[in-house]
Amino acid sequence: MGTVVVVGSINADLLVRVSDLPAPGETVLALGATNAAGGKGQAQAVAAARFGAQTGFISIIGDDADGHDALAGLQREGVGTSLVRRSRARTGRAVVATDASGENSIIVIPGANAELDSLTTDDEKAIHEADVVLMQLENGTKVATEAVRCAHKAGVTVILNAAPPPDLSPDALIDLIRDVDILIVNEGECLRIGGGPDVDSSARSLARFARAVVVTLGAAGGALFRGEGAPLRLPALDVDAVDTTGAGDSFCGVFAAAIAEGRALESAFQLALVAGSIATLTEGNVPSSPTREQIMTTSGRL
Ligand code: RIB
Repeated sequence: MGTVVVVGSINADLLVRVSDLPAPGETVLALGATNAAGGKGQAQAVAAARFGAQTGFISIIGDDADGHDALAGLQREGVGTSLVRRSRARTGRAVVATDASGENSIIVIPGANAELDSLTTDDEKAIHEADVVLMQLENGTKVATEAVRCAHKAGVTVILNAAPPPDLSPDALIDLIRDVDILIVNEGECLRIGGGPDVDSSARSLARFARAVVVTLGAAGGALFRGEGAPLRLPALDVDAVDTTGAGDSFCGVFAAAIAEGRALESAFQLALVAGSIATLTEGNVPSSPTREQIMTTSGRL
């Protein structure tokens, strides 16, 4: 079992089902709505724990029902919550609209997440003791940059899921990713931060700084770029997706847990793709995260 420390957000998601996502200026009627635990940090921490990693979580909640529910849920999953602080601001929320094909659009209301902007001595100690540190950018780039530096200095593997894509100058972006071992982005994030005319050239330009760049490509699977070489392209499972919300976060959490338990990049990549595919079969983010058994059984059949 490896140890993963996740630095990231907690959100209470309002999931809204629509026939078609609204275009700018358009109003649409929902087919239904429900609540579920979400936030990229929380979902990635749960995914890592369900895969079997000993998982610690540096995060923040408000002193409200959403925060208390999230904490109780994380504890049920076996995620360590001693480094989750309390804020006077409300726990983060998100509206996740999903259309009939399973595609979504997400609006995040950061709330307490915006106040996680630096690491404590206890956070640094947990990072030093981890095999892998995994972070996203819903708490902003300041705490992420600090966590990247702290982990890199301690020789801990650093995985950054650059979501949502940061609005940084080229120098600040390089400063964020130069000590990252594995950068995970989806196509849109890759184009936005890589700045190239297409996904491949953008990923190659990012791979000049991070040790490896993984681009998730939805139903088309993903591509792993290292240095100048040809990328390793692997497919996703052929599934009838009902909701893609949890796919990326399950991918990242399982990827981190697999690296933490000593697997090679290629193996972690393959297991993460299986996890992401399974996650599209269930509505919601945290609820859709598969167990280790589901992932191993499914990947054994490939
Ligand atoms: O990656 C999906 C997540 O993005 C949702 O759970 C939502 O809370 C936002 O963080």
